[in-house]
Amino acid sequence: MGTDKKKKREKTLAEQADKYVLYEAAVQSPDVDASFFRKVFRKRFSRDPRILREDFCGTAAVCCQWARSGRDRLAIGVDLDPVPLAWARQHNLAALPRKVRERVQLVQGDVREVEGPAADVVAAQNFSFFIFKTRDEMRGYFEAARRHLAEEGLLILDMMGGSQSHIEDHVEKRKVGKGKVAGISHPAFQYLWEQRRFDPITHRSKNHIHFRFRDGSRLRRAFSYDWRLWTLPEVQEVLVEAGFDEVQVYWEGTDSKTGEGNGRYRPRRHAPADPAWIAYVVAARTR
Ligand SMILES: C[S@@+](CC[C@H](N)C(=O)[O-])C[C@H]1O[C@@H](n2cnc3c(N)ncnc32)[C@H](O)[C@@H]1O
Repeated sequence: MGTDKKKKREKTLAEQADKYVLYEAAVQSPDVDASFFRKVFRKRFSRDPRILREDFCGTAAVCCQWARSGRDRLAIGVDLDPVPLAWARQHNLAALPRKVRERVQLVQGDVREVEGPAADVVAAQNFSFFIFKTRDEMRGYFEAARRHLAEEGLLILDMMGGSQSHIEDHVEKRKVGKGKVAGISHPAFQYLWEQRRFDPITHRSKNHIHFRFRDGSRLRRAFSYDWRLWTLPEVQEVLVEAGFDEVQVYWEGTDSKTGEGNGRYRPRRHAPADPAWIAYVVAARTR
């Protein structure tokens, strides 16, 4: 009696989704990152890097790729938040063969405080150091990163900017096809990057990531960011103040047919005023 009424509603695609799977599928390319780190390190020091420290590692996708890509490679991931670290252990590390997994170490803590083995490369990706709001905080992080490097080592940061990053209530949309992350399948979805606020006086910026599915369901504000949009000259100057011996900006080349970025980054001293750029900053410790 009355059992039909209790028939369960099917879960929406958003309710079934794992936000870390969607994040990795939409914004991360660990293989591209790992081969870029190797390339720039080889270019500077004429040998292969072995130890990677991934600061702000989240789900440690880059650590896992690093360990997978060479039998002598070690990766240390550091993040303040236990939730993505637990996800990393349960999914990304669990998907690795045991011998590879043993070469990945995850540590919960502040990137400025967690010590570890001297790294060949310290990487801070997806604009994570933008959480530091003052020059002193940013310099403190760069000094710590330099301390965590071997006597020959590179700190590799990515940055974004351009006039488009100063627009408020601006949403960029991108389709992501169905696929798999750490053995977990995900459906096709839409990735939305919302620039909610930008304050020209403080350069504080508030942004959100949302995901939308073909059944109309959404994961709103799956990730939110409260950043200071640092500029390339500021970051280069503060890296030198923090003791780095050389600082270079790697700028993306342009595809001559489409006029769009070609995914190849080279050291540059000057660049055109691209309205939406992503660049790497590579700071070397040489002694
Ligand atoms: C934008 S996510 C980056 C995730 C991943 N590295 C990537 O490239 O996509 C930023 C991460 O930094 C972490 N975080 C923020 N402040 C931190 C701090 N002071 N020390 C360590 N981790 C921190 C957050 O918990 C979050 O997981």
